[in-house]
Amino acid sequence: MPSIIVLDDLAPEGLALLDAAEGVSYEVRTGLKGDDLKNALNEFDGAICRSGVKLTPDVLEGNTKLRAVVRAGVGTDNIDKPAATRAGIVVMNTPAGNTISTAEHAIALMLAMSRNVPAANQSLVEGRWDRKKFMGAQVAGKTLGIVGLGRIGLAVASRAKALEMDLVGYDPFMSADHAKSLGIELVEKVEDMLPRIDYLTVHTPLTDETRGMINDAALEKIKPGCRLINCARGGIYDEAALVKGLESGKLGGVALDVYPDEPCTDSPLFGMANVVCTPHLGASTEEAQTQVAVEAVELLTAYLKTGA
Ligand code: MLT
Repeated sequence: MPSIIVLDDLAPEGLALLDAAEGVSYEVRTGLKGDDLKNALNEFDGAICRSGVKLTPDVLEGNTKLRAVVRAGVGTDNIDKPAATRAGIVVMNTPAGNTISTAEHAIALMLAMSRNVPAANQSLVEGRWDRKKFMGAQVAGKTLGIVGLGRIGLAVASRAKALEMDLVGYDPFMSADHAKSLGIELVEKVEDMLPRIDYLTVHTPLTDETRGMINDAALEKIKPGCRLINCARGGIYDEAALVKGLESGKLGGVALDVYPDEPCTDSPLFGMANVVCTPHLGASTEEAQTQVAVEAVELLTAYLKTGA
């Protein structure tokens, strides 16, 4: 009978599916690291994780038992894919389950930053009735640049359209005609949109191509006052460049949900004016967590039972 280890907290609906699954056994063992993690992985045929556990080469190397790992979520950057492949372990993800929640969080950060919601809340609860200090910006009629027009980028686009924003997009895998049919003007290079946009949001994985995409050179070209949002992966924006851009006044604001090293409790951006930060909450809704948990369990049990 195939056995499954659940390495991070999983929504109850996922565990209920595991309870009901015939011909599969499972154990929940969260918080494992180092040798404990390596040894545990050698006891099971399949594993389900979120982003908490780190499946590094050290813990995967030499594994002869594990056949598949499913990430309940999109990004598999906590799993070393080359090491998994060398050990014959298939890596899967659940790309659709948290699309809407992540897109909604990007919009939430854009609006919170534009209307100074976190700073105004803080000021009020500290006893100040300061209306002049928190003059904001309306998003209707502004131009939003979207880098990456996959599931999440497009979900952001349709929501931004409903907010009456103009959309400019970059995605090497989308045709200009298709983008146009979605109300998005496609540009050939990210730098082409920078002088024109009032807001920028990125929805790509962190790769060699996207790492540091918004750096000092990009900020030279960006429209003064542009506000940046990142609910994708830390490192796509160069944080040192963001600090300089905020200090010089070139950037109107920065809203981040993700950081180069997570968990992150110390960033030069924390506490700066016009900066809104959340601790990687894009997929943290009951709906998204239920959906990714259910998809992960279905994928893994099907794979372990049928090899497909
Ligand atoms: C994902 O990759 O699924 C999201 O960033 C959410 C997460 O990592 O928890």
